[in-house]
Amino acid sequence: MENIKLCVFDAYGTLFDINSVTQKYCEELGDITEPFSNLWRSKQLEYSWLRSLMNKYEDFWCVTGEALEYTLDYFNIQDEILKSKLLKAYENVNCYEEVPKVLSILKEKKILTAILSNASPNMLNKAVENSKINQYIDHIFSADSIKIYKPYPSVYNLVSKKYNVAKDEILFVSCNTWDVAGAKSFGFNVFWINRFNGKKEALPFKADMEAKSLIGVSKVFELR
Ligand code: 2OP
Repeated sequence: MENIKLCVFDAYGTLFDINSVTQKYCEELGDITEPFSNLWRSKQLEYSWLRSLMNKYEDFWCVTGEALEYTLDYFNIQDEILKSKLLKAYENVNCYEEVPKVLSILKEKKILTAILSNASPNMLNKAVENSKINQYIDHIFSADSIKIYKPYPSVYNLVSKKYNVAKDEILFVSCNTWDVAGAKSFGFNVFWINRFNGKKEALPFKADMEAKSLIGVSKVFELR
């Protein structure tokens, strides 16, 4: 890790707590809060990949809304007000508690920082603003600029194109195992944030490092 100059973060699940969106409405959703949140997320990802493969790109806000529509239908919920409240909450998502501190340590160590996400620029700008982490982020890359989603290699290449930095000088950080595989296959060093005690993908593109939260990432740089 000696030569890392740039640290690139995935957004949802890595910096921003998407489960908190559904948690806000746990009174309305009751027992299904957790399965609702999981299904919404997995449909959101599935639709992003389907749209990429079908060459029918729509931005991540649209994909998130379509996934929510499926999820409400799956649980037989017909409630337009709840639907718009959930979407609004997604837009106002906050970061995990350790995020500002970890980013500030990276900045102290003069590491460049960026976000690389499938989310639309508007979603990312709002999440960064709400979480008050603007001052720690040097650049925000959105898949929207090339209208195809991670793990397509061109999305990871957005970072290499902008910065004159070799792939092995970049550390990509994600909690998503599919994103870990995509970034590793592209050629980045990869740090897996295994927040939920998950299992590795059975793919030949494994993370170089793993920790339970982003504090693990700051530890790597604190030693420098
Ligand atoms: C991202 O932020 C969808 O979590 C994924 O790119």
